[in-house]
Amino acid sequence: MKRKTSGLSANLTSYGDDAFSLYMRKIFLKSMGYSEDALNRPIVGITNTFSAYNSCHATVPKLIEAIKRGVMLAGGLPFEFPVISLHESFANPTSMYLRNLMSIDVEEMIRAQPMDAVVLVGGCDKTVPALLMGAASAGVPAILEVTGPMLTGSYRGERVGACTDCRRYWARYRAGELAEEDLPEITDQLGPTPGTCMVMGTASTMALTAEALGMMLPGGATIPAVHSERLRHGEHTGARAVKMAADQITPGEIMTAEAFENALRVLLAIGGSTNAIIHLTAMAGRLGIEIDLDNFDEMGRATPMIVDLKPSGRHFMQELHAAGGFARILQILAPLMNMSCRTVSGQTLDQIIATAPAWDQDVVRPLNDPLYAEGGIAVLRGNLAPGGAVIKQSAASKKFARHTGRAVVFDSVADLAARIDDPDLDVKEDDILVMRNAGPVGAPGMPEAGYLPIPKKLAQKGVTDMVRISDARMSGTAFGTIVLHIAPEAAVGGPLALVESGDDIRLDIPGRRLELILPDAELEKRAEAAAGKAGPPPPSRGYAKLLNDTILQADQGCDFAFLRHL
Ligand code: FES
Repeated sequence: MKRKTSGLSANLTSYGDDAFSLYMRKIFLKSMGYSEDALNRPIVGITNTFSAYNSCHATVPKLIEAIKRGVMLAGGLPFEFPVISLHESFANPTSMYLRNLMSIDVEEMIRAQPMDAVVLVGGCDKTVPALLMGAASAGVPAILEVTGPMLTGSYRGERVGACTDCRRYWARYRAGELAEEDLPEITDQLGPTPGTCMVMGTASTMALTAEALGMMLPGGATIPAVHSERLRHGEHTGARAVKMAADQITPGEIMTAEAFENALRVLLAIGGSTNAIIHLTAMAGRLGIEIDLDNFDEMGRATPMIVDLKPSGRHFMQELHAAGGFARILQILAPLMNMSCRTVSGQTLDQIIATAPAWDQDVVRPLNDPLYAEGGIAVLRGNLAPGGAVIKQSAASKKFARHTGRAVVFDSVADLAARIDDPDLDVKEDDILVMRNAGPVGAPGMPEAGYLPIPKKLAQKGVTDMVRISDARMSGTAFGTIVLHIAPEAAVGGPLALVESGDDIRLDIPGRRLELILPDAELEKRAEAAAGKAGPPPPSRGYAKLLNDTILQADQGCDFAFLRHL
């Protein structure tokens, strides 16, 4: 529903007299030096997600300055306002635990304050989905400006970047190939500039899928954080927000079911992060759109993976940008996309690629010569994952595509940490490592712990991949044969809770199956025994209780049930 009031008169504080509310509002703004002329302009809110804890957002102050310039050049009045800022490494227990809290903050502050449009500024993994979830629910015209990826570094002649190489170097350190003294020089180089991780991790994936959704001006997903082009893009975004304020195009009119189909198609074609399926499901849920995992898998079988970026490929985001960025992907993917979808630019996707130049490059491959014949992510089902599970098949070892192995079970993230490097751990390289109680409720917050480390004694023998399964998530920057997001999770009674060390598990990626090889009668017996056992006491107060009581499973986007569109 379109709002009936605009400018300062929107969202008035309730004193029982609207004229008085506006009069009071003007007094306080004039105390900061605003003129009547300024206060009569269309208002553009700008979310300020700067935080000294968030390196991915270190450039936000400069970027906001550019956005404000754009707003004012177009005749509007910008107001930045703070919202929660989430960095992956500075959120305990996990940033995912706080994503929905941030989305509530964004929704309510957009709704509470006067603004005719809002520019959503953010970049790190959970920030972009939280901003878009909140804006979708608030229903005010919104446009996204991401902070942009970091540039790469160099360690002793080798080009490196966060955080695929972070994991690779850590694995080498665990295997004894690197010493403690080597780590400072390595950490100096893995994140050499401000910005988001520069591989196809969650931040890059969310930026590209947001551009596919139509929520960003063309080119916004890939411009490096420290390039001057990023500031010009911000300036254009600010100016565009003023036009959107006049037209009152709501997020729900951009993020349609067809636009989400486009975003999912792009997720598959870029070999994007498995986290994105959870975030896109949550965002769609805010608008009453259901994402069906089986449809997504069908789409994956018909979508070649065409973008050659780490962790599945060779390049970094700055090469993708130099190759033409999202427009280059779109030019190639156009036959599979809903090209008539409109975007915040005012143009349809068709119109955007009609004017986008193309040149020779080796980052985005043609449909007939893809990096991987199918989409990067496959959906698995079976008696271990009745609600579904996902695997980044493009980052998995081919030898494990069909594999049966003996389960080695860890009961929690803490149990894994305590035993994985035990020299007496009974584990072989063709076993399947199983971790449970790491889902949305179990951990809580569904940590990115699904990238179970290779047991030290095997890593030291040169083992670099094993089949690993869990109800956790995994960083988009990680790689390996790793099954994630098993639903329902063990903590709410999912069958993962019933696996015992020594059981056989079958993974069949081409057949899309994940099975615990046990007779049904034995499974039922174990389920009965498990039902009689008391779990840990649930949290009794605060946000932890809210999350525990209302969070949905991974196949439903891990949103809080009461936040979905009714
Ligand atoms: Fe922020 Fe990687 S930690 S994008």
